[in-house]
Amino acid sequence: MPYAHITGWGMAVPEGVLTNDDLAKIVDTNDAWIRERTGIRERHIAKENEFPSTLGVEAAFKALKVANVRPTEIDLIICTTSSPEYLFPATACLIQDQLGATKAGAFDLLAACTGFIYALNMAAQAIRSGSIKTALVVGSETLSRFIDWKDRGTCILFGDGAGAFVLQASDQPGGVLSAVMHSDGSGGDSLSIPAGGSRQPATESTVHANKHYIQMDGKEVFRFATRVMASATQEALDAAGLTVDQIKWIIPHQANIRIIDAAARGLKLPMERFIVNIDRYGNTSTASIPIAMVEAIEKGQIKPGDKLVLVGFGAGLTWGALTAEWTGPIPSKGHIRPEQYRLFGRLRSFVRRAIRFIEGLLYRREL
Ligand code: COA
Repeated sequence: MPYAHITGWGMAVPEGVLTNDDLAKIVDTNDAWIRERTGIRERHIAKENEFPSTLGVEAAFKALKVANVRPTEIDLIICTTSSPEYLFPATACLIQDQLGATKAGAFDLLAACTGFIYALNMAAQAIRSGSIKTALVVGSETLSRFIDWKDRGTCILFGDGAGAFVLQASDQPGGVLSAVMHSDGSGGDSLSIPAGGSRQPATESTVHANKHYIQMDGKEVFRFATRVMASATQEALDAAGLTVDQIKWIIPHQANIRIIDAAARGLKLPMERFIVNIDRYGNTSTASIPIAMVEAIEKGQIKPGDKLVLVGFGAGLTWGALTAEWTGPIPSKGHIRPEQYRLFGRLRSFVRRAIRFIEGLLYRREL
């Protein structure tokens, strides 16, 4: 059975930064409160022309470059996002088109902030089963578009950004070792965007009632998160036959420093073993774990041979954890510049749209 290795990684965040002091100008809050209660100092916010697909494509090109993989070699793209661009088409398909990933299947996975763990596990399982060789997993968000900027309970928390991993099949042991995924839909109403789906389609009254924005029972979510982070980590360790002492780094979902602190206490581990960057990004939902990992890899903290736990929780309610042995890119001959495919992807997309347009005209004439 092949192993599923993480061989490429990349991240992208919008340039625009919103500090706590900036927020204090729009809602009744202050820098000291936000830092003390959440650990967040600032977050990146997308401009009007930035979307989960554009940020996801930036992160994906970087990940492909590290892995030395062409977009045309990707078999499967999973985009996990809590802020999809449309109900359909899937954001994964927009990414597929912009990358020029001509042979890839593509779908979105919605498990809110736990999405990256679910998606990584799904991609790894597809590789381990032998049905595919190369997968791209993207976690990408512009959740700022669903924030009520008058609600100080939520607007201080979230930020925008994207992270992407390339996974490849290899005979060498390592890569994704185990994963656990959990859900409890009875808690779904504690964190939701109530309207805009088929239960409450957009109407004048849903808009007036602010039902297209994130609504959250912060205390309830906090209690749930502190309960599940340590237990999910332990379960994933048990599933891999590992002990916590064998783990070099824990990469938690970056939602609140106090939740990460509670997980550390639950696992009886010092905070130094946790990768934390919430201060500069806030909660970027599905992108928070890959962004934290990419930074840690680029700083040289995560090294080949390190055993890792990724652990998260989110709306649904969902939670899960995944263990992996870090190996890095598979050595390969030649040097691919996936960036060169950017133009190819655009051109291909344009040509396909033109062909579809011409076919449409011809068919209309035939009818
Ligand atoms: N600035 C200043 N004061 C604020 C505030 C803000 N942004 N938000 C709330 N307060 C006030 C409250 O009104 C309350 O005042 P009171 O005591 O006079 O009534 C006080 O601060 C404490 O509020 P509380 O809601 O108890 O704060 P908290 O410590 O629970 O922190 C959250 C609030 C949202 C930061 C916290 O509950 C949390 O992080 N929950 C988890 C959310 C999460 O992770 N969601 C994403 C999941 S993926």
